[in-house]
Amino acid sequence: MRAPITISALTRADIAAVTEIERQGQLEPWTERSFIEELDRLHSYMLVARVDQNCPGIVNQPQYDCIAGYICYWCVADEIQILNIAVQEKFRGRAIGRALLSHAIRDGCERKARIATLEVRKSNIAARRLYEAMGFRIVGERPDYYEVQKEPAILMELTLSNRPAGC
Ligand SMILES: CC(C)(COP(=O)(O)OP(=O)(O)OC[C@H]1O[C@@H](n2cnc3c(N)ncnc32)[C@H](O)[C@@H]1OP(=O)(O)O)[C@@H](O)C(=O)NCCC(=O)NCCS
Repeated sequence: MRAPITISALTRADIAAVTEIERQGQLEPWTERSFIEELDRLHSYMLVARVDQNCPGIVNQPQYDCIAGYICYWCVADEIQILNIAVQEKFRGRAIGRALLSHAIRDGCERKARIATLEVRKSNIAARRLYEAMGFRIVGERPDYYEVQKEPAILMELTLSNRPAGC
């Protein structure tokens, strides 16, 4: 079931909530400082997805402010690099990851990016399926890339100019 969401720029006021979601959902979570540094970087962009209504199960936890997920990406030269994406566990499987990634790709297109790139843990099937569903293809592998639970990174790429819908 799709969740009604609004996507907007991540602000300082969101950092405590996204840091907590990050801590709960990632093997090597970004810290509060990581998000602050990205906010200060000119080529870095971050979006949050907020659940509009019926925020089930989290209404009593105001620190989450109904934030269901977020994405961080860089726009550098003709490339967007997806650095981080996560959806709070209880909101997964409702097309929120897809919506965040679509937003980032559209933004990259508007900024004249030619390709989108990312790295993902080899064992992270949910994320790999999401990227494949969005048209990313595997272009390489970096052995022992991740420190925690040592494993390779799969490198993926999406050529934006070849997308059927264009940019
Ligand atoms: C990866 C992640 C962001 C996906 O978010 P999500 O909102 O649950 O994904 P969506 O509902 O938009 O799913 C889009 C597509 O991804 C794939 N997908 C998502 N979750 C999946 C799962 N658990 N197993 C297999 N495929 C999955 C499917 O192809 C799905 O399309 P479909 O629903 O039409 O079948 C989420 O699982 C997450 O936050 N994981 C923890 C953090 C993380 O690993 N981030 C990526 C770091 S590289």
